[in-house]
Amino acid sequence: VVFKSSDYASLIVAHEIAKLIKEKQKKEEYCVLGLATGSSPIKVYEELVRLHNEEDLSFVNVVTFNLDEYYPMDKNDMQSYHYFMHQHLFDHIDILPENIHIPDGTVKQEDLHQYCIDYELKINSFGGLDFQLLGIGRTGHIGFNEPGSHYNSVTRSITLDHLTRSDAASSFLGIDNVPKRAITMGIGTIKKASRIVIMAWGHKKAEIVKETIEGSISATIPATYLQNHTNTTFILDKEASEEL
Ligand code: GLP
Repeated sequence: VVFKSSDYASLIVAHEIAKLIKEKQKKEEYCVLGLATGSSPIKVYEELVRLHNEEDLSFVNVVTFNLDEYYPMDKNDMQSYHYFMHQHLFDHIDILPENIHIPDGTVKQEDLHQYCIDYELKINSFGGLDFQLLGIGRTGHIGFNEPGSHYNSVTRSITLDHLTRSDAASSFLGIDNVPKRAITMGIGTIKKASRIVIMAWGHKKAEIVKETIEGSISATIPATYLQNHTNTTFILDKEASEEL
């Protein structure tokens, strides 16, 4: 779906999430959300915070699992996804702290494999993701599933692509400061979500959006795996859709 502005598109996405939260509340069920970082979802979180403040949207039944985190990464580091999520969403809503899950970039190397297995099990213990919010990297990654990722991959540690690190360089004050690794949910983890919304804004995403939507499904562009998911919507602004 192409919208004339990313601001308006973000409202639509936020309202879909709010509707799902309320439906689950009525049924007295958890609403399990998979959340993304990066610039793309910022306006969605802004609107969810507004709905909480001005329209009494409660997050007490919401359980969240973030897609990814740099590794190694301190939680208090301003570049961490922990910091991002608290700054843009969690600090402003009534979600219970125990319901927030973000991959931990401080886990010791020797514990990392087991940590990833446990993260995956924890998602499954809530019955999987009801909704997964995604952005897309210019390598075609979703979460941090870089080219080469298997369609059945699960939560694991991965090596970041050079393009991904160079796109992150400005917020780290230089590419040398960008971690070389990350923890990410897998493609298999993401694809089990009942509903997926993937957002892309701006001209610089136009090329990868075209390849993701019109190209053949392959590990070279992991986002193409979403073509096989039966309930995924690509939300674009005009600029991101201009190569379609
Ligand atoms: C990072 C994140 C992804 C995100 C991507 C795009 O690499 N790990 O989850 O989708 O950046 O970021 P942006 O939304 O800033 O373009």
